Amino acid sequence: MNFKELAQKYDTPLYVYDFDHFTEQFNKLKKAFKARKSIIAYAIKANSNLSVIKHFSNLGSGADCVSIGEVKRALLAGVDKYKIIFSGVGKRDDEIQEALIKDILMINVESEAELARVHDIAKELGKVARISIRVNPNIDPKTHPYISTGLHENKFGVDIETAKKMYIFAQKSEYLNPVGIHFHIGSQLTELEPIKEASQIVADLVRSLKAIKVDIKFFDVGGGLGIRYKDEELIEPYDYAQAILSTLSGLDLTIVCEPGRFLVGNGGYFLTKVLYEKVNGDKRFVIVDGAMNDLIRPSLYNAYHKVEVLSSVKNPEISKANIVGPVCESGDFFAKNIEIPQTNPGDLVVIHSAGAYGFTMSSNYNTRPRAAEVAVENGSDRLIRRRETFEDLIACEIDYMV
Ligand code: LLP
Repeated sequence: MNFKELAQKYDTPLYVYDFDHFTEQFNKLKKAFKARKSIIAYAIKANSNLSVIKHFSNLGSGADCVSIGEVKRALLAGVDKYKIIFSGVGKRDDEIQEALIKDILMINVESEAELARVHDIAKELGKVARISIRVNPNIDPKTHPYISTGLHENKFGVDIETAKKMYIFAQKSEYLNPVGIHFHIGSQLTELEPIKEASQIVADLVRSLKAIKVDIKFFDVGGGLGIRYKDEELIEPYDYAQAILSTLSGLDLTIVCEPGRFLVGNGGYFLTKVLYEKVNGDKRFVIVDGAMNDLIRPSLYNAYHKVEVLSSVKNPEISKANIVGPVCESGDFFAKNIEIPQTNPGDLVVIHSAGAYGFTMSSNYNTRPRAAEVAVENGSDRLIRRRETFEDLIACEIDYMV
């Protein structure tokens, strides 16, 4: 990929996505589950640009959504409604209503109180709500605490006993159809054992539900497959699928898998250019035009992203530096104390593995317009989101002249 050309053509800060890599990742996972019926439901929170969703939808992907806004994006991008799942611990009445009207595959319910709401709303609308229940299997996924979700101390899902009660309630209701079961223990998983354990626990629950005539059709294993940011040992998609499938013997289920990061993480690059260098005492700073508002993962999780500096200095000296943005926070950095060459203003800095939770977590903090996004596919590039303007940023503000 010619980053310099892209930066020249579209300016910086810029997100660039390798759509061919996205396709490869999707096909790897689809193939891994080929022994069973499966739906790969792309977790669109990872990167919800409509062109990205459309790309996966064209490959046959469904969508895992966490707001009605995401459901609407999925539909707009052409995702089959019977491959759309709506999860989340706090859905509003209007979101539930709309999801029922849009007739998506299932609403993933995360509490007893929510199940009662879905029941009441379905009744009001005269509809039958297809639901799944998110089970919290109390498994430590061994990942960053902020992205760990399958322990009782996390807010997600319900415990096994509560789930059983909920299925029995749903089974009795003429407005609820319990078609699925769901778990998601965390993100950026690099160990197989916790996934297998969780899958076993949930599969056993499916068996005990079957015994009381609750017939689950969709076994939704969530997302979470990790990617390589630095030197992580990764789980192979085939082993991942095998670990899950090995817990399902005797059960006729369609596997639903909700990968986000795995599909888009490594195919995304964040391009930013050097504005200045400066030295405070003995500390070297390289100041770039992108910032934490564009890519917050280093600031928020202390996440590592590989940084590539395309220096134009002839025989540059190499020394330790922090790469920082213009935002007025000390936490505004992309990398700290890394060995990089001397730079000239205008030199390009490429931040790798920025395709997942990059643009989608960006903001307008400090009244900074959000970056443009570009897709590269089959050797050609195209703009898929224009850079924001100042006018975009103030468009919703009213009454300020009174
Ligand atoms: N399904 C559910 C129910 C989820 O909550 C998530 C992610 C996924 C699927 C997709 O997980 P993935 O395959 O991408 O790991 N902002 C954080 C990640 C938050 C993940 C939230 N849930 C980060 O930048 O690392």
